[in-house]
Amino acid sequence: MINHFFVRITKSNDELEVQSAKSLAEQLELEIIHNEILSLKEDSAAFAFEGKRLIMELMLEDKLTKLSFDLNEGEVAIRAGKASKSNEVVAKAIGCKPHYRPCVLDATAGMGRDAFIMATLGCKVTMLERNYAIYHLLENALIRLKNDEKFMLYSQRLTLNNTDSVMFSVNDKEFDVIYLDPMFPERKKSALVKKEMRLFKRLAGEDLDADKLFEHALNSQAKRVVVKRPKGAPCLGNKKPSHEIVAKKFRYDVYLIG
Ligand SMILES: C[S@@+](CC[C@H](N)C(=O)[O-])C[C@H]1O[C@@H](n2cnc3c(N)ncnc32)[C@H](O)[C@@H]1O
Repeated sequence: MINHFFVRITKSNDELEVQSAKSLAEQLELEIIHNEILSLKEDSAAFAFEGKRLIMELMLEDKLTKLSFDLNEGEVAIRAGKASKSNEVVAKAIGCKPHYRPCVLDATAGMGRDAFIMATLGCKVTMLERNYAIYHLLENALIRLKNDEKFMLYSQRLTLNNTDSVMFSVNDKEFDVIYLDPMFPERKKSALVKKEMRLFKRLAGEDLDADKLFEHALNSQAKRVVVKRPKGAPCLGNKKPSHEIVAKKFRYDVYLIG
């Protein structure tokens, strides 16, 4: 568990990076360290800037490694560029129809990828993320997305809150769908799992309380709860879904309420 955070500034940082680092440190009330060579304990991590990108430096298997999130670059940006109701399984799971796009509460925001794809499909998505470090990395990815002309329209459909979703009340029928994608213990050998995912898990932990969040979602006023599960994983709360949608590596358990 990582619970000590710093902000790091090095001699190679330019003026913009130094300013960004200083304002983040002030905002989060974190200590600034000026170490050129970083040595971190297992329970510590440092925020740093590379241009406008916020990165997190942390230890993974005794090596110093970096993590940052991207929405307007890389694989997810390519996917978003061609996302449609027919090629994104999530569209069916959340109930998109030709002239209807549900309003979604993504209660496990993570890297924001699923929420971004739902926004490109036309949905308004409110994202909730409880993990402090993940929230700030995602917030930074969203800022870069909002400043990218290509994605500006989609980014306007996304909002992000730093909260535990169990504390968030959905009583006013504002959301049609609650979307859940809690972390699931990886069964493959760690070397086979992408480094990014291993780092992400180092930060976020294992979401062992996912059943509680699921119960909370089922007791809300939303019409539909959608749970993303790895193939072969048990249903949350051992509760059989109304129906399931199977994709290549995962499935969606869909619960229709009321
Ligand atoms: C597997 S990731 C989600 C990945 C995400 N669907 C994506 O596309 O990037 C799970 C995330 O949910 C967050 N999470 C789990 N339980 C939560 C809760 N009760 N409230 C808010 N966030 C939660 C974890 O911190 C983690 O970042």
